[in-house]
Amino acid sequence: MVAGSVSKVLVTGGAGYIGSHMCVELLQNGFEVLVLDNLSNSSAKSLEAVQRITQKKMDFIEGDLRDKAALANLFKRYDITEVLHFGGLKAVGESVSSPLWYYDNNLNGTLCLIEAMSNANVKTIVFSSTATVYGIPETMPITEDFPTKPINPYGQTKLTIENMLLDLHTSDPSWSISILRYFNPVGAHPSGEIGENPNGIPNNLMPYLGQVAVGTLPQLQVFGDDYPTHDGTGIRDYIHVMDLVRGHLNALDFLKDNPTIAIHNLGTGTGYSVYEVVKAFERASGKTIPFEVVERRAGDAAESFTDPTKANEELNWRAEYDLHRMCVDSWRWQKMHPRGY
Ligand code: WQD
Repeated sequence: MVAGSVSKVLVTGGAGYIGSHMCVELLQNGFEVLVLDNLSNSSAKSLEAVQRITQKKMDFIEGDLRDKAALANLFKRYDITEVLHFGGLKAVGESVSSPLWYYDNNLNGTLCLIEAMSNANVKTIVFSSTATVYGIPETMPITEDFPTKPINPYGQTKLTIENMLLDLHTSDPSWSISILRYFNPVGAHPSGEIGENPNGIPNNLMPYLGQVAVGTLPQLQVFGDDYPTHDGTGIRDYIHVMDLVRGHLNALDFLKDNPTIAIHNLGTGTGYSVYEVVKAFERASGKTIPFEVVERRAGDAAESFTDPTKANEELNWRAEYDLHRMCVDSWRWQKMHPRGY
């Protein structure tokens, strides 16, 4: 421990969508925060906004997880006690067209991080995983014991990292590891100062709706209305990003003095169809969302939603925000930042 220093939580990818919301939650709960981000898929403006929202300072180092020397220096310079690891690429389609980029970034980046942690004897990590590791399950709702069979390189990288962490814990049970499998994070901090800020045309439904509502995109393409669901469109378990980051805070608590490894699904347990989300977004924004139905998107499941019992009980955590609040907060961010940061 660096003499006289204040212990800090390291947030990798802390300038990104989930990461920046995590920083707000950490700062407002009395944590000292250090962000490492290479800004390849995020803006440092999000960190300025975090400090405006919380009226608190945090340290930021621009750097890449694969820069071993920079990582070693970081752990020498700061007294880091826990790591929340969001840093990584996360676009499914992109991972299919550039798999090696995803393997290098996500896998190699995480391997360098874990080695640096191990060398510095920092053995508490919360890992940002995804429901994409389940692929297309046969039944719903999804629980943590479901088979993992990712159908794209992005999901494969996340599952491989999970397995690296499981093997690490087997080799050294003094590690405290929380693996959180996110369903569909949406929404924004109620201030509207931070939010989802995708580069280019959004892949995901909610930011796409925001751009149609604010007029930067003409209409929504509904990817298929012939799924075996109540209205034919895809059903997902959307979770407000503030609920999601609160789940990480509870995971840190769960890991306190608890050398273990645990996997938890973070979702609400309620699925909504594309048409239900469109309707909710129209109500929240007061805008009409024009759309046309097109072909299904390759790799999409008809339905995906969790049974959140394990996280509810073990993390003493439950999602609180409903779909209306997700849309209201998402719209406020979009309206205040029509072109992102
Ligand atoms: C939701 C629904 C689409 C866009 C993705 C990633 C996953 C995770 C969460 C990181 C589906 C439909 C969408 C559009 C549409 N991210 N849709 N028109 O695919 O469930 O999951 O985000 O971990 O890895 O894959 O979310 O928002 O892309 O789609 O009709 O323009 O909206 O078919 O039914 P998805 P999504």
